[in-house]
Amino acid sequence: CRVRHYKFNVVMKNSTKLCSTKPIVTVNGQFPGPTLYAREDDNVLVKVVNHVKYNVTIHWHGIRQLRTGWSDGPAYITQCPIQPGQSYVYNFTITGQRGTLLWHAHILWLRATVHGALVILPKLGVPYPFPKPHKEIVVVLAEWWKSNTEAVINQALKGGLAPNVSDAHTINGHPGPVPNCSSQGGFKLPVQNGKTYLLRIINAALNEELFFKIAGHQLTVVEVDATYVKPVKLDTIVIAPGQTTNALITANRNSGKYLVAASPFMDSPIAVDNLTATATLHYSGTLASASTTLTTPPPQNATAVANKFINSLRSLNSKKYPAKVPLKVDRKLFFTVGLGINPCPTCKAGNGSRVVASINNVTFVMPTTALLQAHYFNIRGVFTTNFPGNPPHLFNYTGTPPSSLQTTNGTKVYRLPYNSTVELVMQDTGIIAPENHPVHLHGFNFFAVGRGLGNYNPKTDPKKFNLVDPVERNTIGVPTGGWVAIRFRADNPGVWFMHCHLEVHTTWGLKMAFLVDNGKGPNQSLLPPPSDLPKC
Ligand code: C2O
Repeated sequence: CRVRHYKFNVVMKNSTKLCSTKPIVTVNGQFPGPTLYAREDDNVLVKVVNHVKYNVTIHWHGIRQLRTGWSDGPAYITQCPIQPGQSYVYNFTITGQRGTLLWHAHILWLRATVHGALVILPKLGVPYPFPKPHKEIVVVLAEWWKSNTEAVINQALKGGLAPNVSDAHTINGHPGPVPNCSSQGGFKLPVQNGKTYLLRIINAALNEELFFKIAGHQLTVVEVDATYVKPVKLDTIVIAPGQTTNALITANRNSGKYLVAASPFMDSPIAVDNLTATATLHYSGTLASASTTLTTPPPQNATAVANKFINSLRSLNSKKYPAKVPLKVDRKLFFTVGLGINPCPTCKAGNGSRVVASINNVTFVMPTTALLQAHYFNIRGVFTTNFPGNPPHLFNYTGTPPSSLQTTNGTKVYRLPYNSTVELVMQDTGIIAPENHPVHLHGFNFFAVGRGLGNYNPKTDPKKFNLVDPVERNTIGVPTGGWVAIRFRADNPGVWFMHCHLEVHTTWGLKMAFLVDNGKGPNQSLLPPPSDLPKC
């Protein structure tokens, strides 16, 4: 193992897309930002220097951060933001992980443009559990707004419904050909006949789950969220914001150009744009003027296509990479996740009410001191430890909701003893409309042991749980009008954020945090904070 040093200069940069130019916040002037490479067991040090007028933090999405919560990055959860003119060194060791993850800004909506790939290679000399690809290609999917992202956040905070629809999706920063704006070329993936490539696909979009497919070629998925899976061959994958998927593709055509398409998946009545971002797989030797073989992306509400992919994922569960599913559960939790409407006399946009989101009817309020600091230094009055482990009201979650299901505001955490095993069932509710919520847990991977539609049944559903080879991830979709059950071991002391990775829902309050106590043994405590930890 070795030490890897990176420097992230957060700077403004003018960017032209969709025939208009605007200044955006970037890392090192790049969109998407630089790919960070490391190997399993490496110690990574990233010095982030803030040269812009906004507060900044960076999150290493999916990195376990074992005992190093200070380097996790969510603003006001594990650290105070890096203020303009300041810097902070994120310092973490990659333990027991290899694969594709992403890094992104974790404050307000800055991650719209501040994100990039994080590629963790296996330890030196350790092969992949699949044939070695000829080349590896990072594919970052994102969204683009013509207006300022700040204006978009303000619109969301005012609480109107259905705001914030982006103007385009992008593949490695390219929106692809756009009507009335012919100057934009799409991203090109050069391939050679007969060779196999590993695509490291990342959804860095703020608010949209995406389908991804390539004309005339199949994808063999070998890894998700930096955990190996049993290889599965499909035409279309679905990927939620925060999720990553590694897929092999064999260039088995002689020549030509083939369309690569990323299009939105949204199976609720809420409409999103249906802009498809495109790139082209370009066989070497093909003339630039050759026509492209097209493909039709699935319709926006193609739930069956999404389910087929999601249900096909299994942990590799080999001798070398066993699935360590907790079989005995110490703590059973049931969280409702969803949107709601609360009174807001001062809200002009929503006619006296605003859209909120909640977990177990708690709309999370961001503190002004970081929770991890408050925890470590025993600062009182920042959070309470009474986050409910069960919903306050029982109701038919997927049916017509009762009329008065207001949420309460609070900065509440759920406390877990060190090394306890947790089963958490997350149930979508249809208070406004049922919707798919990709929920991300910081500090842990978890096993997705069960998933279903309708209301979770605690008597019959657990009998169907997969405790042998469930997929292991860090971000999981709670299906529209359905539920998922996850299991994890609370072996990482600290304060760990959990939230919907659709940024608009996070903004509305679909978030909470777990506080995991220190263990009593050696190496079972949160490490002390670094001396350059930003102050609020
Ligand atoms: Cu990728 Cu808390 O986020």
